[in-house]
Amino acid sequence: MESSQTLTSSIANKDKRILVLFAHPVPQQSEVNIFLFNDAKNVSNVTAIDLYAHYPDFNIDVIREQQRLVSHDVIIFQFPLYWYSTPSILKEYQDLVLEYGFAYGKGGSALKGKQFFCAISAGGKEEAYQSDGFNHFTIRQLLQPLEQMASITTMTYLAPFALFGSRSASREQRIEKHRSKWRSLLNALATGQFDIERARSIENLADLDILEEPAENQSK
Ligand SMILES: Cc1cc2nc3c(=O)[nH]c(=O)nc-3n(C[C@H](O)[C@H](O)[C@H](O)COP(=O)(O)O)c2cc1C
Repeated sequence: MESSQTLTSSIANKDKRILVLFAHPVPQQSEVNIFLFNDAKNVSNVTAIDLYAHYPDFNIDVIREQQRLVSHDVIIFQFPLYWYSTPSILKEYQDLVLEYGFAYGKGGSALKGKQFFCAISAGGKEEAYQSDGFNHFTIRQLLQPLEQMASITTMTYLAPFALFGSRSASREQRIEKHRSKWRSLLNALATGQFDIERARSIENLADLDILEEPAENQSK
């Protein structure tokens, strides 16, 4: 018979392993992302990597990063939206790490079936990210190169987890709720306790109702 310790670890082993790849060139000035990154470090089953801290000269260790990808089930790019895209190290990361024969092409199936999404903050307001709004495109439309990267590498692409109006979020006391949703999301991903089809089809993972705290826990 299995000991309770073995049983606990075998249950825990079934949980998905999550890799958060954090990209912020000036984290000491961050009002949003640094807190989410630090929260992620404290969630079990999460490996949280600060790419700019690891690779200040962009000298990315390709083999090491490929091994890291292989050993996780959920891959998250976490970043502040810069020029409607990722900070540059995440482009370098894709260019170097997602090699032919590893991530795509002949024999390139290392990422097959993994879940992928972006956790982003955007300075612009949500209403600006509409076809008739200031930025002309929705956030999902703007992130389509990443969605297609996930497609060609046969990962399952989920909606972004996005905070809009990030520059005023602290003043407007919106960060704590977003952080709480982020922690809930990471836990739900680890245990697989959410509707993956809904997570694929909505605009923003932050709108998933399962991330809402029960009313009795919300501060009055
Ligand atoms: C170089 C640069 C480019 C930016 N580009 C955009 C952008 O394209 N769209 C947008 O909504 N916000 C943009 N912003 C605002 C950032 O998204 C915002 O500062 C960030 O989400 C705040 O997160 P943080 O407090 O963690 O740094 C940009 C900021 C910088 C510094």
